[in-house]
Amino acid sequence: MNNTQNIQWFPGHMAKTKRLIAEQLKLIDAVVEIVDARIPVSSRNPDLTGIIQNKPHLILLNKCDMADIGATNDWITYYKSKNITAIAVDCKSGKGLNTFKDTVKTVLSDKLKSYKEKGMVGKPLRVMAVGIPNVGKSSFINRIAGNNRAKVENRPGVTKGNQWFSVDKELELLDTPGVLWPKFDDDTVGEHLAFTGAVSDRIIDTELLAMRLLEILVADYKQLLLDRYGNFEIHEDAYDTLCEIGKKRGMMIKGGEVDTERAANMLLEEFRNCKLGKITLERIK
Ligand code: G4P
Repeated sequence: MNNTQNIQWFPGHMAKTKRLIAEQLKLIDAVVEIVDARIPVSSRNPDLTGIIQNKPHLILLNKCDMADIGATNDWITYYKSKNITAIAVDCKSGKGLNTFKDTVKTVLSDKLKSYKEKGMVGKPLRVMAVGIPNVGKSSFINRIAGNNRAKVENRPGVTKGNQWFSVDKELELLDTPGVLWPKFDDDTVGEHLAFTGAVSDRIIDTELLAMRLLEILVADYKQLLLDRYGNFEIHEDAYDTLCEIGKKRGMMIKGGEVDTERAANMLLEEFRNCKLGKITLERIK
């Protein structure tokens, strides 16, 4: 069954973004990629690595306030093994962002050293922020640079001046030129983006989506489910488990049946609002 058949992946749009990012690469020193710490795989566009070529790259595991801290740390270790620096941040509250600038400087330490050797002091580091929609890129830019639009009159190659933000005299940020779309390689990506609300769940059958979420929760976070909904029987079949949860919440319709659609909506809402606890849906395998 193709659950995500209606979620469109627009190769044309992505080709344009690819070109726009490639054009700006010469103006920047590093790329900061914002991902959702709950779904670090599905919230990345895997093509990005190829697009940014050898540019130093750092990953912000955002929304870490909603993710499982152990899993987030595992991801940080994993990226480190791939020579990519990753930090956990919460751009809603700003938690973790105090280390951002120093992390950029560490990632770019060779470049800074060479600037110093050449006597180029006071040249700001320029970083491009990229991320698929809803990962928190606007929240990040807002937190780190506020409304400090950078002055760009004399910068060659820059056409859209309002995409540049000044953090301070040492650091400038460029917002993604174009939209970096997710890549719906398989159903899982679409489902995981729908769990977090990054794509509309109206285009996927709600009960089916809730059943898929339950499968992950039963496998990895059974106790959180039991804590939230009280002791109930967990069945082999996720639909039966959804019925148990609906029953626990008194979601019945005429004839003693469970209103599974209501139960499904409730489960998805409670997951999105972090009522079940801090959960990471994609772990290192
Ligand atoms: P985008 O530019 O990448 O599309 O994302 P944006 O910053 O608009 O953030 C998308 C949603 O995620 C917003 O919620 C935002 O508040 C929330 N968000 C961003 N970063 C974090 C984080 O680190 N932790 C948490 N818990 N939430 C985060 P919204 O419901 O669309 O808006 P609102 O709640 O801010 O009104």
